[in-house]
Amino acid sequence: MKTTLTILGLESSCDDTAAAIVRHDGVQNPVILSSVVFGQEEFHADFGGIVPEIAARAHVEKLDVCAQQALENAGVSLSEIDAIAVTSGPGLIGGVLAGVMFAKGLAAGSGLPLIGINHLAGHALTPRLTDSAVFPYLMLLVSGGHCQFLQVNSATDFTRLGGTIDDAPGEAFDKAARLMALPQPGGPSIEICAKAGDATAFKLPRPLLDRPGCDMSFSGLKTALLRTRDKLVAEHGGLREQDRANLSASFQAAVADVLAEKARRALTVYMQNSPEKPLFAVAGGVAANMTIRAALETVSTKFNARFVAPPLALCTDNAAMIAWAGVERFRAGQSDDMTLSARPRWPLDQTSPAMLGSGKKGAKA
Ligand code: KG4
Ligand code: ZN
Repeated sequence: MKTTLTILGLESSCDDTAAAIVRHDGVQNPVILSSVVFGQEEFHADFGGIVPEIAARAHVEKLDVCAQQALENAGVSLSEIDAIAVTSGPGLIGGVLAGVMFAKGLAAGSGLPLIGINHLAGHALTPRLTDSAVFPYLMLLVSGGHCQFLQVNSATDFTRLGGTIDDAPGEAFDKAARLMALPQPGGPSIEICAKAGDATAFKLPRPLLDRPGCDMSFSGLKTALLRTRDKLVAEHGGLREQDRANLSASFQAAVADVLAEKARRALTVYMQNSPEKPLFAVAGGVAANMTIRAALETVSTKFNARFVAPPLALCTDNAAMIAWAGVERFRAGQSDDMTLSARPRWPLDQTSPAMLGSGKKGAKA
């Protein structure tokens, strides 16, 4: 096996078509030579959510352009690439299929090895790409489609400590924003609106805190917000600016409280392993929220665990994380052949089966 690996990563499991090139010499920190992301927001804007068929078609049209761009930006040719890593699940099946078929074609044409990557492993291994995280570490994936606590034991061994039993928090933010007529994506809108609000103005529930364990639920919170909104509308004939700000702040505080308390429980379990360099990392769009981030950091500090939040571009969907997961798998002597299949569902922890529900962004696995 060569010491220095240069891997092309491809991602198309949701609404971003992405390609990236990562190089690692096996000793120093890995280098992201390029990372290209083509978002599809404009194609789905009129539909209030991602339309899988539109997403898949857009991926088919963009994957080759994206890969070409990644090679150009990195200044490397295909002949300098050692292997092609592609997201082969979980996600919206049309998009995953588009990526896998493109990668297979490229691998067949170039003779390069093919490596199928679990999208969630891509997110979960990012702290090793950005912050040299040492196994085992604790990870919270928190986005529009994912919400789970993972103990990352190795590049291929993950223990799921808990996850959402219904909506992902990003999904809840998006739905809550819609209920308050705030623009999409809802997370950033609510965070801005909440700045002028009082987080104690409305008593919203903290679902599942009365039950042991690290599982979470966010759909009841959204329903509670709906009821409060309807009451305010009935009383005042509409939603006043201050009500909207107070609702936003109260909602955000409830999500932060739930995540912080569940993080405390996940950290308690994780710390029982006496990790050499305790580390708690977050990934996913919701990790951009400063209130939530601060709440998680506070909990992490109480356990003397280093808190890591990778740069947002590497927290949200991207192909650098897929290329990096490819480096990890390839170094472990693993690759796939032309029988690699696209999987809509693919839990990282096979001993802890997938949770209920498949959100607007695909299976939550
Ligand atoms: O990771 P991401 O870009 O895509 C996937 O879901 O895979 O996450 C997008 C989600 C959206 O639901 C969005 O509302 C949420 O992350 N989000 C936020 C913030 N920024 C993005 N939620 C809360 N606060 C934010 N500042
Ligand atoms: Zn993702």
